[in-house]
Amino acid sequence: MKTRITEMLGIEHPIIQGGMHYVGFAELAAAVSNAGGLGIITALTQPTPELLAKEIARCRGMTDKPFGVNLTFLPAFAKPPYPEYIRAIIEGGVKVVETAGRNPESVMPYLKAAGIKVIHKCTSVRHSLKAEAIGCDAVSVDGFECGGHPGEDDVPNFILLPRAAEELKIPFVASGGMADGRSLVAALALGAEGINMGTRFIATKEAPVHENVKKAIVAASELDTRLIMRGLRNTERVLNNSGVARVMEIEHEKGASLAITDLIDQIAGVYPRVMIDGDMEAGAWSCGMVAGLIHDVPTVKELIDRIMSEADSLINKRLAGMSAA
Ligand SMILES: Cc1cc2nc3c(=O)[nH]c(=O)nc-3n(C[C@H](O)[C@H](O)[C@H](O)COP(=O)(O)O)c2cc1C
Repeated sequence: MKTRITEMLGIEHPIIQGGMHYVGFAELAAAVSNAGGLGIITALTQPTPELLAKEIARCRGMTDKPFGVNLTFLPAFAKPPYPEYIRAIIEGGVKVVETAGRNPESVMPYLKAAGIKVIHKCTSVRHSLKAEAIGCDAVSVDGFECGGHPGEDDVPNFILLPRAAEELKIPFVASGGMADGRSLVAALALGAEGINMGTRFIATKEAPVHENVKKAIVAASELDTRLIMRGLRNTERVLNNSGVARVMEIEHEKGASLAITDLIDQIAGVYPRVMIDGDMEAGAWSCGMVAGLIHDVPTVKELIDRIMSEADSLINKRLAGMSAA
């Protein structure tokens, strides 16, 4: 399939794997790129810029296809050495960066000087327009359904994507709730040039996470995510578990006086316990409502090939048949 995104990124299929903390290692990124999509390594999962440089080299050893790096700007209390992470990305020869968390204006000159395509992930039309204005090459438009941080506007993709299409000149991909060929065709119909998936890629053979995580996603329905940290204006969609239930109790008890420090036990250091140890009650970890559409654990190539053949059959058989009639 050819879209503005496949052309821009030099990939075969318009499918991107979004950055995911403790999931976006070289194994998954390389598998997605080898299957014709764009795999993405998550920079801040690597504890130091030196280790990110090694992870980029490791990924290059596993694929000769393009892959990207996600650079997430965290809230102000955490201060990773961003300039050094950016140097590792540039010196590693990476040609696509997915930015997220806040607008990447301050780092754009360095990324653009290195010939890097910047895809900014954001959750509203106004942030998408800002990304366009500061020179981003594309936007990943993350609807309210998404796993991770859906922002504070709560606009689902059926409205957000066509609104983005009305306003943006740069191409965008649909993110949040994407799982299969139906998602891809719907996203294209709503004006996107491809899809970005997070949760769906965790339930694949190559995702380097504990089997318990994959089983939990397959077992979950669309009713099993919760929104936490709304009171902090840092809303996160997570899979429900006893740690998340405790977060919600604390949020209820503290009301307007809630501070991030009140939730430290349920949110700090949780990712390695979930993703590596498989402790599914450890606390809050991001997961999309799309879990309700995930029923198996295929290889990444099986998943991507299936999405593309479903999309082809939807467009050329179901929709063409309806239209011809
Ligand atoms: C476990 C997990 C961890 C994530 N970590 C990050 C992250 O570190 N940085 C980021 O920009 N997005 C992160 N995301 C968001 C994804 O990149 C993607 O935007 C989102 O999952 C799309 O929604 P979906 O899960 O419905 O596909 C994460 C998502 C999940 C499920």
